[in-house]
Amino acid sequence: MKYRAVKGMNDILPEEARRFQRVERIFREVVESYGYRELRTPLVEEAELFHKSTGETSEIVQKQMFMLAREREQLALRPEGTPSAARVYIGETMHAREPLTKWFYIGPMFRAEQPQRGRYRQFHQAGCELYGDSGPLSDAEMIDMLYRLATRLGLSGVKVSVNSLGGPDARLLYHQRLVEFFTPQLESLSPHAQARLGDNPLRILDSKDPRDIEACVGAPLLLEILTDDDRKHWEGLLAALTVLGTPFTIDTSLVRGLDYYTRTCFELTADSGEIGTQNAILGGGRYDGMLKSLGGQDQPAIGFAMGLERLLLALGEQKIAEAPLCFIAPLGAPAQMRALELGRDLRARGAYVEVDGRGNSLKSMLRRAGTMQARVALVLGDDELARGVVQFKDFQAHQQSEVGFDEVSERVLDCLAQDELPEGEAKA
Ligand code: HAM
Repeated sequence: MKYRAVKGMNDILPEEARRFQRVERIFREVVESYGYRELRTPLVEEAELFHKSTGETSEIVQKQMFMLAREREQLALRPEGTPSAARVYIGETMHAREPLTKWFYIGPMFRAEQPQRGRYRQFHQAGCELYGDSGPLSDAEMIDMLYRLATRLGLSGVKVSVNSLGGPDARLLYHQRLVEFFTPQLESLSPHAQARLGDNPLRILDSKDPRDIEACVGAPLLLEILTDDDRKHWEGLLAALTVLGTPFTIDTSLVRGLDYYTRTCFELTADSGEIGTQNAILGGGRYDGMLKSLGGQDQPAIGFAMGLERLLLALGEQKIAEAPLCFIAPLGAPAQMRALELGRDLRARGAYVEVDGRGNSLKSMLRRAGTMQARVALVLGDDELARGVVQFKDFQAHQQSEVGFDEVSERVLDCLAQDELPEGEAKA
């Protein structure tokens, strides 16, 4: 085979696409019930947008952007959705239009990472961004919404981790404390951590390198040097999560890989299905400084993004129920014409119908109906056409009967309706 999909980019075949659709549908239902409305933005942005927001010291900007150079433009395939949404918020002067803006998005993102299970170069995120509320209640409500969403999706072994990264003042102080703490042990740090000590020592805390993990023992905690306002926010968050009954864990090593977070950050992990070690199914946090740094008004913001491929790995090989199907097997040209009409009329009334127009033998058509797990089949040839009837095969009841043209649609619709999909499942 000559052509293959590009490394780290996956084809999504129909059965898998149905699993994506189910997750996307439940995601929409849940976030819309909290007032989020959909935003769609281009897949390509000016690269500078990500330098300015995702951050120069983030791995994404340093190593993972897919660049598109065109004439004098430096463009990039979006590695995440937050900067694009911020660009729109600023460009549309949303702060002047509404006091609080809540958007969600679903779509592909691109990062040139080393592909492995749960880590791809093109992957899909479903995320939300909320602008205009700096209080901790919106943080708590978002985190609780995500826990409820995970439960509704059927995930098990879900862990909600939260931390506070403080505001700019606490961060500055913390930066100094970390430099003081790590400098005497510089030699024992990994080369990556040594580089981070210069630009973003916070990132050393979430390094997976055993040398860095050991060096982090006894490191100062950000939670201990929060300013009074940061602490008030943090305590407000914990109190609201407790009222909402969201099970959560405080994880002081949770720093997240993007530069823009302030105060609250959070992550949900799952240990079910085949998720393996890449088990963060979603992450997010507050980024109160981003809009101003991009030239907008000084507005607070918070958001998250969920990785759909990881979520599906965590859900395991769940089979999504197919919508019940009516299969029409006509024999001969006149019957084929009648079958086309019947199919059109049934679909107009909401049925899922497959008309087999190949002109094959009855046996071959019925074999196909079986493979497609049809609920009913309608067989008609010259004789049936002359008498105004079809042979009605009810595969579930294992019965066959003759039904007149005038009542066949009703009978089919009745039969398909009996085959109810599980609760909450729409026809995908
Ligand atoms: P992030 O932590 O970089 O945050 O990504 C969020 C989620 O996307 C991860 O938890 C993971 O499930 C998924 N993900 C990330 N990279 C990959 C990959 N290479 N392959 C598969 N899945 C992946 C953000 O993107 C922020 N924009 C979240 C946010 C929104 N913060 C505030 N607002």
